[in-house]
Amino acid sequence: MAKLQKVKTAVVGCGVISEIYLKNMTSAFEILDVVGCCDIIKERMEKRSNQFNVKQMSIEEILSDKSIELVLNITDPVNHHKVSTQVLNAGKNLYSEKPIDISIEAARELVQLADKQGVLYGNAPDTFMGQAIQTARFYLDSGLIGDITSVTAVLNRDAGFLAEAYPFTALPGGGIGLDVGVYYVTAMLSVLGPVKQVAGYVTTREPERTHYFPGKEDFGEKFRLQAENLVAGSFEFASGVYGNLMFNSCSIFPEKPQIVVYGTQGILYMPDPNQFGGEVKVILRGQAEPIALPATHAFSENSRGIGPAELAWSLRLGRKPRTSKEMAFHGLELLLGLYKSCETKQFYQMTSTFQRPNPVPRGYVMGPSEASLAV
Ligand SMILES: NC(=O)c1ccc[n+]([C@@H]2O[C@H](COP(=O)([O-])OP(=O)(O)OC[C@H]3O[C@@H](n4cnc5c(N)ncnc54)[C@H](O)[C@@H]3O)[C@@H](O)[C@H]2O)c1
Repeated sequence: MAKLQKVKTAVVGCGVISEIYLKNMTSAFEILDVVGCCDIIKERMEKRSNQFNVKQMSIEEILSDKSIELVLNITDPVNHHKVSTQVLNAGKNLYSEKPIDISIEAARELVQLADKQGVLYGNAPDTFMGQAIQTARFYLDSGLIGDITSVTAVLNRDAGFLAEAYPFTALPGGGIGLDVGVYYVTAMLSVLGPVKQVAGYVTTREPERTHYFPGKEDFGEKFRLQAENLVAGSFEFASGVYGNLMFNSCSIFPEKPQIVVYGTQGILYMPDPNQFGGEVKVILRGQAEPIALPATHAFSENSRGIGPAELAWSLRLGRKPRTSKEMAFHGLELLLGLYKSCETKQFYQMTSTFQRPNPVPRGYVMGPSEASLAV
C-alpha cells in the first residue's frame, strides 16, 4: 500500500465501554479515522464527542454518509440486532460488541444479511488477538504440550452484586454465559477450532432478588434476574478434543478465571481471556511446577479497539477479519446449545462451523503493535 488510506469509522452507543474504545481508536490505531459518535441519550453522545473531538451524529447521518466505511455497534445487547441490521442494510462494514445477538435465529439473520450485502462483519470478543491468547496459541500450535486432548474453562462471579453495579447483567444477553463466558468460549474456539456437539445445564438460580446497595434509589425493591447465572457444559471439538466449562455467578468476587489445556506432553495455563495480557504458564512432562513462558505477541494492555482496527486492515488488504461473524455465531450457538441440551436432556448437534482465524504474526512484543495487524 503506497499511502495509508484510513477507514472512516463511526461509533453507535456512547455508554460505559465507549470510553476505552474511543480512546484507543482515536490514538492507538493509524488505520482508523473516527469521524462520529451517536447515542439515543444526547448527554452521553455530547460527553464522548467533547472528550474525543468527534462529531455528534444521528444514526441516519451515519448511514447516509458515503465516506463512512465502518460502523462500530457498542449498544447494549438487546439493541444489537436493530443497530446491526440498520448498518448492514446501509451496505456498511460492521463491527459489533458481544454477544453477536441474543437468539440464534436473530444472529443467523444478521450473518445472512452481511453475506447478502457483501460487507465485512466482525464481532467481539477481540481479546483473543491480545498478547496472552496469541502467545498461548503459538506454543500450542508449535507442539509444546504434544497432542491436545482436552480443555477446561472456569469462571466465578456474583450475579446479585453485578445486577446492582451493572444493571444490564440482569437482562437477557447480560448473564454469565453470553456476557462473559463468551470470552472463554471464543478463546477456546480461536485456538482449537469448531465444536461438533454440546451438552449442558443452564439455570437462573434464585431469580427473585432485592436491591441492596444502600445509597441507591431502588434500595429494598424486589427485582427479577432475567439472565442465566449458572452454566455447566461439556463439548467435543471437530478435532476430537474434549472440553468442559463451569460459569458460576452464584459465587463470589474476585474472579479466579482458569483456562487449562491438557496435552500428551504437558499442561498449558492461559490467563483471564477477558483481558489482553497476562502470564501463560506450562508444566511439561517431568516437571513438578508450572513455569511462565516468554510472551511472543503485542497488545498486553487494554486494547479494546483492536477488533475494529483489524477489521479495517482486513478491508484494505482484501481478507476476512479474524473476529469473523462465523466464529461469533458458532460461539453463540455453543452457549445457546447448552440451554437446548438442558431443556431436551440430549446432546445438541452444532449446525454451524467456522475457519480457525489465522494467528496474529508474532515478534512485535516491543512494537510497533499495529504492524502485526497490517500484514
Ligand atoms: N461495560 C463493560 O465493561 C463492557 C466490557 C466489554 C464489552 N461490553 C459490551 O459493550 C456493549 C455496550 O456495553 P456498555 O457497558 O457500554 O453498555 P451501556 O448500557 O453503558 O451503553 C450502551 C449505550 O447504547 C445506547 N443505545 C442503545 N440503543 C441505541 C441505538 N439504537 N442508537 C444509539 N445508541 C443506542 C444506550 O443509550 C447506551 O448509552 C455491550 O454489548 C456489552 O456487552 C461492555
